[in-house]
Amino acid sequence: MFTHSPTQQRSISSSPETLDMESKLLQKEIDELIELNGGNRNALIPVLQEIRKRHTFVNSFAMQYAANRLGVSAAEVYGVISFYSFLKDKNYGKFTISLCRTISCDMADKTRIAKQLQNTLGIKFGETTEDGLFSLQWTNCIGMCDESPALLINEQVFTKVTPQKIKEILDGCRKTYQENKQGDS
Ligand code: FES
Repeated sequence: MFTHSPTQQRSISSSPETLDMESKLLQKEIDELIELNGGNRNALIPVLQEIRKRHTFVNSFAMQYAANRLGVSAAEVYGVISFYSFLKDKNYGKFTISLCRTISCDMADKTRIAKQLQNTLGIKFGETTEDGLFSLQWTNCIGMCDESPALLINEQVFTKVTPQKIKEILDGCRKTYQENKQGDS
């Protein structure tokens, strides 16, 4: 069900000893991703998404480098990341739950979904569970307005979400995490 593997995530260290080598590797990755996604500024979101998926977050070096390569300003890249919270440039749990708060989802009672998520996970929006498994955040419209309320878990979309479905969705994440862990050992 979920394609996200926690083992694919690697932190981008900023220690002086490894910075140069990691920067070069990151540059190479970004170059390849830009190429794969058409080589023009339309590649921006897919490239950021993939970097976020592989490294857990998009650091400032990656932002600046992608901006230079695509001929856009760093401010524009930062703006995209700020607008789409699932691209946020900071570290999150293994599963980042992004609940849409824009008008269609708002009218489809996203507040009930938000309450259920908070109660079930025991965290508020902007927080991560103690086991590091789940983070909860808001996002803007993800293009699923006709099937609202909608949320993302990492890159996977869930639509017509009800409070009753939340447990099942979270259990699916836990199961995927356990399976990935076993597959790695
Ligand atoms: S308003 Fe929520 S998906 Fe568009």
